[in-house]
Amino acid sequence: MKLRKAKYSRSKATAVEPTFDDKAPVPAHVAIIMDGNGRWAQARGLPRFVGHRQGVKAVRSTVRACSDLGISYLTIYAFSSENWKRPASEVDELMGLLRVYIRRELTELGREGVRIRFIGDRGRLADDINHLITNSEESTKNNTGLTFTVAINYGGRQEILEAARRFAQHVQEGEHEPEDINESLFESYLESEKLPDPDLLIRTSGEQRLSNFLLWQSAYTEFVFTSTLWPDFKKKNLEQAVAEYQRRERRYGGSSH
Ligand code: FPP
Repeated sequence: MKLRKAKYSRSKATAVEPTFDDKAPVPAHVAIIMDGNGRWAQARGLPRFVGHRQGVKAVRSTVRACSDLGISYLTIYAFSSENWKRPASEVDELMGLLRVYIRRELTELGREGVRIRFIGDRGRLADDINHLITNSEESTKNNTGLTFTVAINYGGRQEILEAARRFAQHVQEGEHEPEDINESLFESYLESEKLPDPDLLIRTSGEQRLSNFLLWQSAYTEFVFTSTLWPDFKKKNLEQAVAEYQRRERRYGGSSH
C-alpha cells in the first residue's frame, strides 16, 4: 500500500521566531542566569576557565546592549552561594575574574553613567573584593544610566531567611509588631530593596531552572530559556528574548477578559 504524503513535511514546519519590535515596550528589568561557560570551553577542548573568561566578554556586550535597547535594570548571577562547591581552582579563577572585572570594566562603565550595585552575602568574600565592591557602589551611586546589579555569593533562600531574621530582631527590639508584616514591609528587608521585580529572566545553555536566583522577586517574571551558551550570547540573542517577552500577555494572576 502506498502511504499518502504528509501535507506538511517536518522540514517545512520551521518555527517562526518573534522579531524584536523597537516601538513596543521593553522590559524595565532583565535578570540573567549566565550558564554554559564550562560546556562552551569543553566543546573546544579548552579548560573551563577559558569559558569563564569568554563569559566576561559576553557580560560586557550585554550591558551595552541593555543600555541600547532602553532597559533600565540588568541583574546578573555571577556567583551563587552554591558555587563554593566547585573545585578550589575554579572558585579562585572566578574570584580573580571578578577582581579584574570590577577594577577595569566596572570603573569604565561607571564613567559611562552606569549605576553599579551588588547583592549577595559579602561575609565570605575576600576583604579586597569587598573593598572594590563598596568603592564601585559608592562612586556610581548618583549615576542615572542603567542600574547594573551583580549577584555574588547570592542565594534567594538565604536572602529571604536573612530578611525574616532581621524582621524578627526588630520585633524583639520593639520596633515592629508581628502583625505589621506585609509584602512591602518584607521587601524593605530584602537586598533587592529599591530594585523593581524583574520583568524578564533569561537563562542560557538550555537549562530550565531558577537555581535559587531572585526567588521572591520573580513571582510574576516572564522566563525565556535559550539553548545558546553564555559565551555565545550576543545582542541579537537579547533582542530575541525581548521579542519573546513582547508577545507574551502578562496577567499577574488576573484574566485577559
Ligand atoms: C555558569 O557556567 C556560569 C557561572 C558559574 C558564573 C558566570 C560567570 C561569568 C560569566 C564570569 C565571571 C563574571 C563576572 C561578572 C566577572 P558553568 O561553569 O556552570 O557552565 P557549565 O554548566 O557549562 O559547566
